[in-house]
Amino acid sequence: MAKNGQISSSVIKRLPRYYRFLGELMRQGTDRISSRELSEMMKLTASQIRQDLNCFGGFGQQGYGYRVSELHSEIGRILGVDRDFKTIVIGAGNLGRAIATHINFETRGCDLIGIFDKDPALKGTSVGKLKIMSTDNLEQFCRRHKPVIAVLCIPKSGTQEIADRLVGLGLRSFWNFSHYDLSIDHEDIIVENVHLGDSLLTLTYGTNAIISE
Ligand code: NAI
Repeated sequence: MAKNGQISSSVIKRLPRYYRFLGELMRQGTDRISSRELSEMMKLTASQIRQDLNCFGGFGQQGYGYRVSELHSEIGRILGVDRDFKTIVIGAGNLGRAIATHINFETRGCDLIGIFDKDPALKGTSVGKLKIMSTDNLEQFCRRHKPVIAVLCIPKSGTQEIADRLVGLGLRSFWNFSHYDLSIDHEDIIVENVHLGDSLLTLTYGTNAIISE
């Protein structure tokens, strides 16, 4: 079986989608599925699916297909959903609140344990089950609770500074929504920059191609 580090980044990018589709099949009571059926559902070629899934184990059997629950839990294990990574949100504005309340962290291996903002007026107010804390308390909080993932929902200007501070406090992974392509020069730090606007531009490109004036 391949270790996580040996799986190519393009396969890793497709894993959450496999995980989602397989979860859906499990909820429908499907025990096994062929690569052809999965390919029709996922709009990928059967050979792409076989290639991807061969990267991490011999789950497929000729003439039998894949055991859905086994494959689902193996992909989940690779993605880390069976873990409990302590996670904090920085920035409790519109986006930070939406993410803290609408993303299901638990089913994705994360435990959201804190939300911070630098605005003193927000301190102590609630976001779901959490009370907003001041960024002045980050050091104390991180020493005590040891979060490893930070979700950054703050403006561009403060992003690098807060990320560097968090790295010093032991944070290892950044889900960065600020409009700033964060890069941290450290081999054990992972950054996932998210720009919803980029996704919209992919859509406008496609729309441009199908709708002529
Ligand atoms: P907002 O103005 O509602 O909230 C920002 C919050 O961050 C405020 O409560 C502010 O006090 C706090 N803040 C600012 N600097 C801080 C720091 N250094 N440490 C802690 N807290 C700090 O803004 P909103 O709508 O929540 O957006 C947040 C950021 O995310 C904006 O810069 C926005 O451009 C960006 N954004 C990115 C998207 C994406 O797809 N990547 C989508 C939407 C917004």
